[in-house]
Amino acid sequence: MEIKRVGVVGCGLMGSGIAEVCARSGYPVVVSEINQELLNKGMAAIKSSLDRAVKREKITEQDREATLGRLQGTIKMEDFKDCDLVIEAAIENLELKKKIFAELDRVCPRHTILASNTSCLSILDMAMATKRPAQVVGMHFFNPVPVMRLVEIVSTILSSDEAIDTARTFSQSIDKESVLCKDTPGFIANRLSMAYLIYVIRCYEQGLATKEDIDKTMRLGLNHPMGPLELVDFIGLDTVYYILSAMHEELKDPLFAPPTLLKKMVTAGHLGRKTGKGFYDYK
Ligand code: 3HC
Repeated sequence: MEIKRVGVVGCGLMGSGIAEVCARSGYPVVVSEINQELLNKGMAAIKSSLDRAVKREKITEQDREATLGRLQGTIKMEDFKDCDLVIEAAIENLELKKKIFAELDRVCPRHTILASNTSCLSILDMAMATKRPAQVVGMHFFNPVPVMRLVEIVSTILSSDEAIDTARTFSQSIDKESVLCKDTPGFIANRLSMAYLIYVIRCYEQGLATKEDIDKTMRLGLNHPMGPLELVDFIGLDTVYYILSAMHEELKDPLFAPPTLLKKMVTAGHLGRKTGKGFYDYK
């Protein structure tokens, strides 16, 4: 199926990145938020990301203007009525996501494919909130969306081959590589990377080495772009905690039990870069 118009639900960190990337690739995009204030914030983030791309000579000023011209911000779900693909990137709350999917199902035409950018929640649960479960898939992007090359395409036991093919072809058209995975907690990337990050936090908690030396080892010894504790700060400690808790709850694997240190830091509001303090200080 040809995708002519894209919708993105949520204009936070991930939603704004997804909307930007789709608009930069030539798609008219409708992007929503729950109120005008959050929408303005999200649209400003897209603009500043495009300004940065112009500065770095990745796109021209004309490209930036054309991209902005393809973006429509909204606070009304009805505005998704002409979209062929809608990617949900709201906060990680299954009940909220089920409501959004039911609403999208009501508003969007029969052919529209509905996708979720969730990092760990069950796509099938969202699909079952609609009358079109065969047209519901996962499309999991990575932060920062304009930079990271991958999209995980998640197939539930009810997703149709056509919906999966369309999601893969669409990912290619926005210059992303895709991988196909099953609808299991954490999919591929978070299942594997969280096992690593949680082990690092436990080792740090036990006094293996300083945070600087742990990070330096993985950056210089293994060529990772960021050390693991820097990466946890970058993702957000609350997000890591949430993903781990969801995976632990579903898989019952003690490997994913959130470490005490992580829980304490989240309780203290040390959520990483976004609050100015995590394992490192950003103030
Ligand atoms: N938006 C757009 N572009 C950005 C950006 C952003 N937020 N941050 C960096 N960039 C671009 C820069 O413009 C630059 O592009 P150029 O080389 O073509 O000029 C390039 O990325 C490198 O940026 P910098 O030189 O400023 O900084 P670094 O070299 O330190 O790279 C980084 C920054 C790309 C974030 C790199 O450190 C990195 O790849 N880190 C790992 C990120 C990662 O693992 N992300 C996945 C997180 S997990 C996830 O998202 C899943 C979820 O479910 C939890």
